[in-house]
Amino acid sequence: MYNFLPKSYRQRIRKSLADRGLFKTILLVYYERWIEYRYRISAGGIVNLDSLDIDSANVAKGVRYEGVNYYIFNEIMQRGGIDFANSTFLDFGCGKGQAMVFASDRPFRKLLGVEFSARLCGECRSNLESHFRLFKKLTPYEVYCCDAASYAIPDEVNVFFFFNPFDAEVLKKVLENIDESLRRFPRSITALYVNAIHRHVFVESGYRQLSSFHDNKLDLYVDGGAYVFAK
Ligand SMILES: C[S@@+](CC[C@H](N)C(=O)[O-])C[C@H]1O[C@@H](n2cnc3c(N)ncnc32)[C@H](O)[C@@H]1O
Repeated sequence: MYNFLPKSYRQRIRKSLADRGLFKTILLVYYERWIEYRYRISAGGIVNLDSLDIDSANVAKGVRYEGVNYYIFNEIMQRGGIDFANSTFLDFGCGKGQAMVFASDRPFRKLLGVEFSARLCGECRSNLESHFRLFKKLTPYEVYCCDAASYAIPDEVNVFFFFNPFDAEVLKKVLENIDESLRRFPRSITALYVNAIHRHVFVESGYRQLSSFHDNKLDLYVDGGAYVFAK
């Protein structure tokens, strides 16, 4: 029936039908395929990290590429209470740039992405470039191709986005790097964490939990939920 779709996608649909039923699967396909079309980006599918040529000791501690769901992204963004015009957004593990493109719907001062796969960085830049050109968006953006654990946090960043990019060890190191930036330049920051499997790391690092939700519209990210933290 849906043979026009790639094999891996057909397998996901079959699994989703079994797990979620027909209605939620239709909604999920809507969010994945229609949104990709609407934003004119190519950011769908799943990419395993062992299929990418990544030069980092943290590959085994990283999570495969998968773009964040549009509905969940908007939900968590709304709960963040963010003053967009005075905020710079940073996505750790930006992949093909889906979250950055969604973030560009808000009047952020600047958008940053950090990703350790050179191939994904290239796809991220090309998605951002074509989306910004087509929709005449002007927000400055930058994509850094490096390991999040060794990325020095720019002092202007105050909104940090994580869609379950890595394990607790790398997350802890990233939060230490954020602390270093906070010591240099004290400010209030917000962390948005989707599929927040290692949320205890935020709590242990002194973050306050502002909000959380567990999606039952699409049954996505059931293990982690989505959390807003502040420091
Ligand atoms: C689940 S995807 C999130 C994609 C993107 N943030 C989004 O929401 O559309 C996780 C991404 O984190 C990247 N990643 C994992 N470990 C990393 C690390 N140590 N440094 C930089 N990127 C990493 C992966 O390559 C993958 O693209």
